Amino acid sequence: MAVITKVAVVGASGNFGGPITAALRQAGLNVTIISRHDSQTQHPEGIPVIHTAYDLEHLTQAFSGQDAAVCVVGPGGIAHQTTLIDAAEAAGVKRFIIDDFGWGPDVRGLPEFAAIHAQRRAGWDYAKARADANPAFTWTGVTSGNPIDWAMAKFPLMGFDVPNSRAIIYDAGTESFTGTTLAGIGQAVLGVMRHPDETANRFVKVLSLQTHQNELLQAFEKVTGREWEVSRATTKELIASGKAKFKAGSSGWVLELVVGQLFDAGEARCVVAPSREESDSALLGVAGVSAEALVHTVVEQVAKRQARAMSVE
Ligand SMILES: NC(=O)c1ccc[n+]([C@@H]2O[C@H](COP(=O)([O-])OP(=O)(O)OC[C@H]3O[C@@H](n4cnc5c(N)ncnc54)[C@H](OP(=O)(O)O)[C@@H]3O)[C@@H](O)[C@H]2O)c1
Repeated sequence: MAVITKVAVVGASGNFGGPITAALRQAGLNVTIISRHDSQTQHPEGIPVIHTAYDLEHLTQAFSGQDAAVCVVGPGGIAHQTTLIDAAEAAGVKRFIIDDFGWGPDVRGLPEFAAIHAQRRAGWDYAKARADANPAFTWTGVTSGNPIDWAMAKFPLMGFDVPNSRAIIYDAGTESFTGTTLAGIGQAVLGVMRHPDETANRFVKVLSLQTHQNELLQAFEKVTGREWEVSRATTKELIASGKAKFKAGSSGWVLELVVGQLFDAGEARCVVAPSREESDSALLGVAGVSAEALVHTVVEQVAKRQARAMSVE
């Protein structure tokens, strides 16, 4: 496949779109942002932005001249994915990065996530069908598992309340899971652009590290130089609470079940690949990080978040 130099990013300034766009730009690729015509999202300066209606005609115009497209819209935008795929193909885009950035087709999630997975899978299957019918159109899914630095900084329920040096350790704290940092997610997408042949028409699996809560707690105590206050909880209770909320139609079930299945003892539900060697991390240039280096990043992200919150007050 020809070299990819021009990339359109849809959802470019979101949680994951931000680091992806930054990685593509930093590597010297020619990036264009595609955004909803009524979006109020602020985008980084210096990148062309096309505000457009999300219909076939307008999106085809927006994708015109691009070598590749990255679909990294938030969950609310997933329903647009088939139109985005049709438009990219019609515009002659050669590679479409489908919206995964999660657990991919081999996901072993709890049954409550079935509807969400089905909606995502419909988009992925559609990309595959288009590529089968038209060899000039190809796709890649980036399966990055837990977005570990972002998730730990944002959700204390994941076990680490950084500002208060408090930890919740679920069960024995030994359930192993894989995670990819935001920088790793950006690098994975850049790696796909640099290796279009090796990544065509498949899901690539990446991870920055494999770890468990006890190792992370040790790293937090070392990095912060403090002993943390530790409380204990069980994934059984957390999952039961999430399921009850799901059944009742109340909010909060997604986070409880995401965290519950991450640490569900003995289930290995959240392992993208058994090791970095058995993943595509080396091919794509996704660096491994130690638990300590990760925790440094999390502490920095929490400090930035606090500084932003204080400047708004
Ligand atoms: N593995 C995990 O645990 C995990 C965690 C979080 C996210 N993810 C996945 O990563 C992907 C990106 O998520 P994110 O958190 O980065 O997204 P996000 O920040 O919520 O949204 C990204 C962008 O999507 C666009 N968007 C939002 N709602 C839309 C709608 N209704 N229709 C069309 N476009 C819409 C917006 O761009 P404009 O305003 O520019 O149009 C927005 O800035 C998703 O597939 C998400 O499921 C995975």
